[in-house]
Amino acid sequence: MRPGPGHEAARAGPFLGWGQSNEVRVEGMGVMPVAIITGASRGLGRALAAALAGRGWDLVLDARTAVVLAETAGELSALGGRVVALPGDVTDAAHRKELVAAAQGLGGLDLLVSNASALGAEPLVRLEELMLDGLRQALEVNVVAALGLVQESLPLLRASESGTVIAVSSDAAVEAYETWGGYGASKAALDHLAAVLAAEEPELRVWAVDPGDMRTELYAAAVPGDESGRPEPETVVPAFLRLLDVRPASGRYAAPALLEAK
Ligand SMILES: NC(=O)c1ccc[n+]([C@@H]2O[C@H](COP(=O)([O-])OP(=O)(O)OC[C@H]3O[C@@H](n4cnc5c(N)ncnc54)[C@H](OP(=O)(O)O)[C@@H]3O)[C@@H](O)[C@H]2O)c1
Repeated sequence: MRPGPGHEAARAGPFLGWGQSNEVRVEGMGVMPVAIITGASRGLGRALAAALAGRGWDLVLDARTAVVLAETAGELSALGGRVVALPGDVTDAAHRKELVAAAQGLGGLDLLVSNASALGAEPLVRLEELMLDGLRQALEVNVVAALGLVQESLPLLRASESGTVIAVSSDAAVEAYETWGGYGASKAALDHLAAVLAAEEPELRVWAVDPGDMRTELYAAAVPGDESGRPEPETVVPAFLRLLDVRPASGRYAAPALLEAK
């Protein structure tokens, strides 16, 4: 939470987390937390954005497909907080600047969620067939752009009382599944960036979060025709909310374990 106009008056006691615990909305004071969520037009990004909007968070959302993003933003803005939807590609430095400027326009930045992701090959293929340009694309979106957005966001995150970065990871970052090598390598790199960022920025919380398999377009593109019934992304969101409420130490967390611990 950013210190801001009316901030002290709005808070009863020390910061306890982002639940409904000690946060008091002060009409017109703009004291609710602000998040940037990339890849928020559908899937996990959208589900998390909806949950935060329901808690009154102000949101800056992105995705490349403007019409889908606008539709999502329209629905989410009915839930509570302010929603700024900026279509664009996270690999575009000017777009990343625009996302952070929009957060600043909402009063600051408390949470950055790097959720937009590329597979590198659709469907996934074994390493012997993986196009090197596909691997470059996965690294560009999942690692380089994620770091670029962190770099752009750091001044605002450091100014927040509770600056937080969530890097959406995958079990493919730690398990050697056939065909998931390029994507998994990019998520492993993302995990490592998150771990080093946590060491370098001890005042922030930096969580790499493996959401577990979910029924989304990304999963369908990775493994077409899979009928094994993955859970909906909404079922994973409580794990993210738990992190925000409890604020454990920076580190790597898996959503299924967080959900079991509830
Ligand atoms: N689904 C799973 O089983 C699973 C498992 C483990 C981890 N994950 C991770 O969970 C996260 C969310 O995945 P999901 O399954 O919810 O995917 P999804 O439903 O396919 O949604 C992906 C979102 O990211 C946007 N996007 C993609 N590339 C982008 C780019 N370059 N710039 C900006 N936005 C971009 C998409 O919109 P546009 O296409 O319009 O840009 C969409 O809004 C990802 O980090 C993924 O790696 C997923």
